Amino acid sequence: MSKNLSELSGRKGLEKNLFEELGIAARETGTPDPEAMENLADAFLFGTANVYGTVSFYDFLRPENRGKKVYVCNGSACMTAGTQDKVKAKLGEHFPPYEIGEMCCLGRCHENGAFHFNQRNYSGSDIDRLDHIVRDGMVTAEQWHVDTIGPQILTAPYGDVETYYNTLRQCLQRTPESLLEELKASGLRGRGGAGFPMAFKLGACRQEKGNIKFIVCNADEGDPGAFSDRYIMEQRPHALLQGMLLAGYLAGATHGVVYIRAEYPESIAIIQEAIEDLKQKKLVGQNILGTDFSFEFKVIAAQGAYICGEETALLSSIEGQRAEVRVRPPYPTQKGLFNKPTVVNNVETLANLPYILQQGGAAYAAIGTAKSSGTKLMSLDGHFNRPGLYEVEMGTPLGQVIDEMAGGFRIPVKALHIGGPLGGLVPVSAIPRLTVDFDTFAKEGFLLGHASVVCLPETYPLISYLEHLFRFTAHESCGKCFPCRLGSTRGYEMMEKAQHGRYKIDRELLTDLLETMEKGSLCALGGGVPLPVKNALQYFEKELSPFFKA
Ligand SMILES: Cc1cc2nc3c(=O)[nH]c(=O)nc-3n(C[C@H](O)[C@H](O)[C@H](O)COP(=O)(O)O)c2cc1C
Ligand code: SF4
Repeated sequence: MSKNLSELSGRKGLEKNLFEELGIAARETGTPDPEAMENLADAFLFGTANVYGTVSFYDFLRPENRGKKVYVCNGSACMTAGTQDKVKAKLGEHFPPYEIGEMCCLGRCHENGAFHFNQRNYSGSDIDRLDHIVRDGMVTAEQWHVDTIGPQILTAPYGDVETYYNTLRQCLQRTPESLLEELKASGLRGRGGAGFPMAFKLGACRQEKGNIKFIVCNADEGDPGAFSDRYIMEQRPHALLQGMLLAGYLAGATHGVVYIRAEYPESIAIIQEAIEDLKQKKLVGQNILGTDFSFEFKVIAAQGAYICGEETALLSSIEGQRAEVRVRPPYPTQKGLFNKPTVVNNVETLANLPYILQQGGAAYAAIGTAKSSGTKLMSLDGHFNRPGLYEVEMGTPLGQVIDEMAGGFRIPVKALHIGGPLGGLVPVSAIPRLTVDFDTFAKEGFLLGHASVVCLPETYPLISYLEHLFRFTAHESCGKCFPCRLGSTRGYEMMEKAQHGRYKIDRELLTDLLETMEKGSLCALGGGVPLPVKNALQYFEKELSPFFKA
C-alpha cells in the first residue's frame, strides 16, 4: 500500500507536494481543518484516512497544536540545565496555558532557556526581554562560540560565493567516476549517526537505471543536544548546497531536497535565501555552467517528529505519508523518494564534499585516523565554561576538547550523554579512555553519533533522566514495531513508578525488556535507547540500586 502511495505522491512531484500542502493548511490555526484535508486527499487520490493518518502523526499538524503561539524547549540540555521552569513561568505572564506548546530541542543547547515565538528561536537571557520580544517584535542575536582543534574544514570561512563555486566548475570538467574514486579515497563516513561510507551510496545510486534520482539532505537534526547541522545551515549554507550539487553530479541525480526541521525557522530562511542566490548566479537549474548537468533544489519544512530523522521515515514524510520506518531492502538508493533511486545524507557529511573534491581524497584521508578520517563537529551544552560548537580532528582526546577548548565544567558533572538520546551515557571516569572517533567510542561501549554532548550534573537524579529517555522514545516511536512501541512505554512506566510510591524495578524484567528492544526493533530508535540505560546500570549501580528490588 505505501508503495502505491509513494507512486501517487510522485505524480505531483516535489513542487506542490502533499506534505507541504498540509503544512500550509495548518498555518493559520495550527492544524488543517477537515475540509482542507478532504480536498487534499481528493487531489492526491490518497484517501481521507491516509491524510488524517499523516496529520495525526506530527506534533505541529495534529489537532492538539491548534492555537499554540509560543513553544517551550523540552530538550535534554535545557532540562538538565534547569532553566525551563523560569521560561514557562515568564511565558505564562503573557500567554494563557492553551497558547503554550512544547518543542523538542531548538538547538540552543549552548545557551539554554530556549523558547520559540513567531517563527524565531530565543535562548539565554532572552526570556528577561520577553516584553520587548512579544510587544515590539524584538529580534536578538545568538552568541556562537566556535573553535577548532586541527585543520579547519567545516568552520573555515569560504569567502566570496562565486569563487567558492570554482570547485563545482572544476569538478564539472571531470567525470563523475573519477570524482567518486576521489571520494572513496577520502574515507568519508556519514556524520548522521551510522558512519556509513558516503562514496558507496553515491556509487550505488549512480548504477541504478532511470532519469530521475534524488539527493536528500537529512537536516532533521532531532537529537536533543545537537546543533552542528544548524551551524552549517546558518553559518556555512553554501558548503551544504555545493556539497549537494556535487553529490548530484556524482550520483547522476537531478533533484536535491533539503528536509529541515520546523524547529529551525532561521535555517529554513537562510537555506532558501542561499538557493535564490544560486538561481541568480545560474549555478542551479538546467545545464549548469553550459554542461549536461541539471539540478534543482527544494526545501521542505518538517512538522515535528523525531523519527523523520531516520532516512526511510523521512522519505515517507516527504511523500505525505505517516512517517513510519520502512523495511530494507529495498534500500533508498534502489527505491527511495517516490520509488526512485535516492541518496540520503546528513548535512555535515554533504558539507565535507567541496573540501574533499577541491583538495583531493588523499589530503582528506590524511586528517584524523585511519578509519575515521576528517574532522567532526561537536555541540557542547551550557554546562561547560565555554559552551559552543567545536570542529575537532578525528582522534583528538575527548579530555582535550573538554579541558583545553571548553574550559572544563561550570558545575560538578557526573556523566556526559554523547551522540543524542540513543548515544552512550559516558561517566566522567571514562573520559580519559575516549578519543573523538567512531571506533574508539564503539570499542568502549559508547557511540559517537552526532557528537553532541549533554552534561548530567552530579545533583541531577539519574533515574529521572532514564525516565526522560524512555518518555522521549515512547513519544517519538513511529509505532511500526511492538518492541519499541510497547517497550518504550513499559520502560517509561517502570522509571516513573520507581520514583513515586513503593514500586521497585524488577532487574530481570528490565533486562528482558532492554534485550527485546535491542534485538527486536526495526530501527535504531527502539534498538538504540537500551544503550544509555545499560551504561547507566553499569556505571551508576550505587545511585540506581535503591530503585530496584533487592
Ligand atoms: C531514530 C533515528 C533518528 C535519526 N536522526 C537523524 C538525524 O536527525 N539526522 C541525520 O542525518 N541522520 C539521522 N539518522 C540516521 C539516518 O537514518 C541516516 O543514517 C543518515 O541520514 C544517513 O546520512 P549519513 O550517511 O550522511 O550519515 C537517524 C536514525 C534513526 C534511527
Ligand atoms: S523501532 Fe520504533 S521507531 Fe523504529 S520502526 Fe520500530 S516502532 Fe518505529
